[in-house]
Formats: sequence, structure tokens, C-alpha cells
Amino acid sequence: MDRAEKLVLGMASALLVVFLSATVFAVARLDITLPTCFTEMEPFDEGEVIEHSEDWYEVHYLAAMWFFEPEELEVPAGATVDLYLTSDDVLHGFQILGTDVNLMAVPGTVNYKRVTFDEPGEYRIVCHEFCGIDHHWMAATITVAER
Ligand code: CUA
Repeated sequence: MDRAEKLVLGMASALLVVFLSATVFAVARLDITLPTCFTEMEPFDEGEVIEHSEDWYEVHYLAAMWFFEPEELEVPAGATVDLYLTSDDVLHGFQILGTDVNLMAVPGTVNYKRVTFDEPGEYRIVCHEFCGIDHHWMAATITVAER
């Protein structure tokens, strides 16, 4: 092996050890938890929209063969929306097109993501995990209204 190759391999290995040590130190000594989107919430068996205020909505999305509940949601532009997501049967995807929301609906657990829709318009939610014969029809809509 070339001397330069050995040097690069050695440096890469040393960096891996540094990163792994920093992660273990952060979890064990600094009490920093690794990021996750899973919650402690008990899985639910129906969708729900909770309006805490005109600027804060909590939405429980249920994914099932082959729909999302609620299928339609309307919120005002700029409102904070806390999304909770679970599945009633198999694995489903949950992607809100045009945003960074991309979750998995996992049976037996609840995923979470906070999102703010600044631009009014119609946002399509699609299932991006093959879940059966009607997977390609599985969708829902969020309408963001002007203030
Ligand atoms: Cu649900 Cu694909």
C-alpha cells in the first residue's frame, strides 16, 4: 500500500473514532438525546384536528389502506401545525409536497413533525411507501388560506 493511502486511511479512521467518541460522550455525560421523530404518544385509531388557537393547530393523521384521515385540512397561512402520524395497518409514507415534511406512518407508534405553511395554496400529501393495490391513490390535501 502506498504511503499516502496509509496516511489517508489512518486519518479517516482517527476521525471516525473522534466522531463516535463525541457521540457517546454527548449521550452518556451531557445527557443529550439523539434526534428522533418518535413520540411517547399512544397510537390513535382516528384522525383529529385540534385548534389550540388561530395560530396553532394539532393534527392527528391516521394512515390506513388507502387513505389519510383527516383527508382535508384547512389552516391559515403562518399558523404552526403540529403533525402526529400513525398507521392503522401497514407501513405508509407521508410526504407533504413542496415542504420538508417526509415521515413514515408506523403501526404501533406515533411520529411527529412541526410545520409552518407561510405560502397560501393547496398542499398535497402523498403516500410514498408501497402499501398495496391502491397505494397510488392514497393522498390528502392541506389548504393554506390567506390571512
Ligand atoms: Cu399507503 Cu402507499
